[in-house]
Amino acid sequence: MPVECISWLDPKPGQVFVDGTLGGGGHTRMLAEKVGNQGQIISFDRDAIPIERAEETLKGLPVAVVQSNFTEIPSVLDQMGIQHVDGVLLDLGLSSDQLEDRERGFSFESDGPLDLRFDPTEGEAASEILGYLPEKLLADLIFNNGEERLSRRIARKICERRKTEPIETACQLAQLVISCYPRVRGKRNQIHPATRTFQALRIAVNQELSSLEKALKVLPGILKPGGRLAIISFHSLEDRPVKEAFRDDPRLKPLTKKPARPTDNEVAENPRSRSAKLRVAERVEIEQ
Ligand SMILES: C[S@@+](CC[C@H](N)C(=O)[O-])C[C@H]1O[C@@H](n2cnc3c(N)ncnc32)[C@H](O)[C@@H]1O
Repeated sequence: MPVECISWLDPKPGQVFVDGTLGGGGHTRMLAEKVGNQGQIISFDRDAIPIERAEETLKGLPVAVVQSNFTEIPSVLDQMGIQHVDGVLLDLGLSSDQLEDRERGFSFESDGPLDLRFDPTEGEAASEILGYLPEKLLADLIFNNGEERLSRRIARKICERRKTEPIETACQLAQLVISCYPRVRGKRNQIHPATRTFQALRIAVNQELSSLEKALKVLPGILKPGGRLAIISFHSLEDRPVKEAFRDDPRLKPLTKKPARPTDNEVAENPRSRSAKLRVAERVEIEQ
């Protein structure tokens, strides 16, 4: 939903925006072209690869890139001498480049290491967690972060399997999850059986939900009155806290009553966008 998202943020020449999730840089580029050389975009990503790429691909545009969690946006802006901005965008989850990177385990077919971290220098890889987490905690993690109804069966199978061989690749884990599902023939348009388990592990190793919760608390504070916060989420565990924060935070007024959804054309072009939801809120002036 890049066009819709940019139109909600409504960037004008000379304004300053933050893109908290740089990824392939598509949104950053669109914002930068709108604010022009008098304006500035400060773009964040936890992953070093998009940051390095952007230095090349966004050359000549008024963009500064920072490798950091978006929870750190206020302190980084403070160090740059910027107190308030005209808008902030978070496009949550993982990028197409990460999905295609066979060394990081984001895609089910990959036979590279099952890592799943946005920043592989921080925390533990998913394969490490699968090696030691007790069965009950593993089942809770898969259920709570993945809303996977077969979580207990999958956790049991993981614990049985690791007694004889470690689960080290995405492909191994995907095959194991598939074996927990009953065979259903002829059902089309269903998500891959391993989707929820991978989502659960990715959320856990990156602490995605606590990052989002923290961002929702601190980001309204850096918006100018009238400044906008746009968040694109991909599942209900992300969309729910966004909806609640936009409704309950007295500094914000929600602009999207219902989340904006991608058009049929967008979904046809990029099937991963089918679950995307965009919500936008505006910073209001609070009387002292
Ligand atoms: C869906 S992609 C963004 C795509 C981007 N809007 C574009 O136009 O190409 C999400 C990106 O956010 C990054 N990311 C996820 N959580 C993050 C966090 N807490 N802080 C900073 N970056 C994060 C991921 O590494 C990934 O590159």
